Amino acid sequence: MNNIRNLILSSLLLLLVSCSGQKVSTVGSTADIESRVDRLLARMTLSEKIGQMNQVSAGGEISNYADALREGKIGSMLNEVDPVKINEYQRICVEESRLGIPLLIGRDVIHGFHTVFPIPLGLAATFDPELVEAGARIAAVEATGQGIRWTFSPMLDIARDPRWGRMAEGSGEDTYLDARMAEAMVRGYQGSLSDPTSMAACIKHFVGYGAAEGGRDYNSTFLTERQLRNVYLPPFEAAVKAGAMTLMTSFNDNDGVPSTGNTFILKDVLRDEWGFDGLVVTDWNSMGEMIAHGFGTDHKDVACKAVNAGVDMDMMTFGFISHLEELVRSGAVKESVIDQAVRNILRVKFLLGLFENPYVDVEAGASVQYAAEHLDAARRSAEESAILLKNDGVLPLNADRIRTILVTGPMADAPHDQLGTWSFDGDKGHTVTPLRALQERFPGKVVYVPGLAYSREKRSRFDDVVAAARRADVVLAFLGEEAILSGEAHSLADINLIGSQSELLAALKSAGKPVVATVMAGRPLTIGRDLPSCDAMLYSFHPGTMGGPALANILFGDVNPSGKTPVTFLRTVGQVPMYYSHNMTGRPYNGEKMLSEIDMEAGQTSLGNTSYYLDYGAYPLFPFGYGLSYTTFRYSDISLDAETYPADGTLTVTFTLSNDGNFDGTEVVQVYVRDRVGSVTRPVKELKAFERVNLKAGESRSLSVRIPIAELAFFGLDGVKKVEPGDFQLWVAGDSASGEPVSFKVQ
Ligand code: GLC
Repeated sequence: MNNIRNLILSSLLLLLVSCSGQKVSTVGSTADIESRVDRLLARMTLSEKIGQMNQVSAGGEISNYADALREGKIGSMLNEVDPVKINEYQRICVEESRLGIPLLIGRDVIHGFHTVFPIPLGLAATFDPELVEAGARIAAVEATGQGIRWTFSPMLDIARDPRWGRMAEGSGEDTYLDARMAEAMVRGYQGSLSDPTSMAACIKHFVGYGAAEGGRDYNSTFLTERQLRNVYLPPFEAAVKAGAMTLMTSFNDNDGVPSTGNTFILKDVLRDEWGFDGLVVTDWNSMGEMIAHGFGTDHKDVACKAVNAGVDMDMMTFGFISHLEELVRSGAVKESVIDQAVRNILRVKFLLGLFENPYVDVEAGASVQYAAEHLDAARRSAEESAILLKNDGVLPLNADRIRTILVTGPMADAPHDQLGTWSFDGDKGHTVTPLRALQERFPGKVVYVPGLAYSREKRSRFDDVVAAARRADVVLAFLGEEAILSGEAHSLADINLIGSQSELLAALKSAGKPVVATVMAGRPLTIGRDLPSCDAMLYSFHPGTMGGPALANILFGDVNPSGKTPVTFLRTVGQVPMYYSHNMTGRPYNGEKMLSEIDMEAGQTSLGNTSYYLDYGAYPLFPFGYGLSYTTFRYSDISLDAETYPADGTLTVTFTLSNDGNFDGTEVVQVYVRDRVGSVTRPVKELKAFERVNLKAGESRSLSVRIPIAELAFFGLDGVKKVEPGDFQLWVAGDSASGEPVSFKVQ
């Protein structure tokens, strides 16, 4: 009932706005573009309209597609990256088809094109939207330089289960951080729409895909509407408001309904409530997969369901091109539905200027690939994304006191795997690995003994590498997982360091020299058991092309690490799901001892009666927002500018941040808020602001952060989004588990 009220209210708003003559456009369309769309649409046959709704993955010879292109049966192609071929495809469409409609050329440019940046989970660890936007802009410059004008990125899937391999591709567990990163990437990719380097963003996977049961990719999800509206939908809404031009449906069925046939999310929420007027594309054959889901009988049936639910373009099912004409003739699909889909597609093509300029300048495009400033930006992103998890003082290393460095581990010289998942176009020949960076920086000082050829290798003895460690002054071990072990369809039930890496690390420790472990992975591995085997640990979510120089700069103190965990690091995979913004429950943990802390007497009647694990306790290994620095930051004098705020007011929290150590550094200040009592139970805290603050050694600075009280709104029992009056708490801290709260009220 509430949902219908929402729908009516938001539809009225849209009606009012559109009656005022002001087009409610989320993708930046103008009256001129709209009239051009309408004029072209009026000239199109039904077959040509349906052709625009058909997306084909390229491969092989141009002749494979020439006839279909001439007949206007293909509206978009993906996976072609040869600019000469792309220009020929465009030429056939523009010069040899009846209406000359250019193609929309798409590609998965997920974290860089040729210059590869850290995987998105690593980019999230920077808590630096400006840096992430700049990186997305560089990705767009390189990709459009090869003729690609549409990327299937950013991925906004909230992920709270590290068994899920695609956690690598998103911005982690938190709604607020995810939304800020989404906005940054949309702005970066799209830039100024008419600019030839503008690349349409595609926010995906809509919606809830990361909540796959068991962390098994493609598995079902069971998110309530309230959970969708309070946790999973807000990043998509933020990205729509930032002007995202396209959206991709997700593979999963949520509460029994596959997203590709889900009218509630694709029409009621996306179009009617948010006013999205961009293009909706399916995921790869996700339309056809509705047959396997048991949601449709055949391709004709699922094509009908998808188009009527609000899908505009079919990626690789060929359901639209095969059955829509018949479905329109039979009346199962109204031609007005087809017209709206084609409007959404043509609008994107007009906005990108493809009708004026469908071709790419091959020579100019080649000149921007791997530009020095691109590599610098990738290095800075890798530096800011690295998280210092442990340091007993061994870091930063002093090169003047080191004669011999032992470099070891399967990730020390893995130029392909260092790029991470979804880095199709990154050439490993450009990767600078840690080994290469250290050898170039310290010629003659580096001894390289891999210890393990690859992460899954099984070995029981490490005599060679231990002997080398004994002869070295410091051991740098680069561990983790290859790129193939995360990403799509690559879920893991065991997320310990794979193979014999833990044994390698323990063997290295036995040599009696300082051991620094650097882990490169696509997920937060359960590395708790490895911490005793090293004096320091740096965590780097696959850092990309320039990961080597970045990590070397951190290890030797040129850069003070500032990365923070964008996901919770677990003590064991058995703790899944564990994330910071959990609900309090009726029995919050109250300090009961774990099994390892108590003497087990026979016949004990109780070991605790609150929400925790007897063996692994109630807390993770490292909480969300955590990361050490070479210096220490201290928060003090935290105060609010009022005790009570109106629902439409703004709260200002002021505090002093001090750098008490000997290194200049950057702290990611985080502000969390808890709504103590609601019409529904609320999380124990939620991130509502963050800011990177650079302080010189010894410097203290008074700072303030403003938070509109409207940011505390949520969908409560009545299904309406609003701020509920009552008591709140607020934390300002360097991670989600630190600090003491201050209280305030909302009246
Ligand atoms: C894949 C992924 C999606 C990607 C698409 C095109 O299956 O799920 O994220 O953009 O297909 O490659």
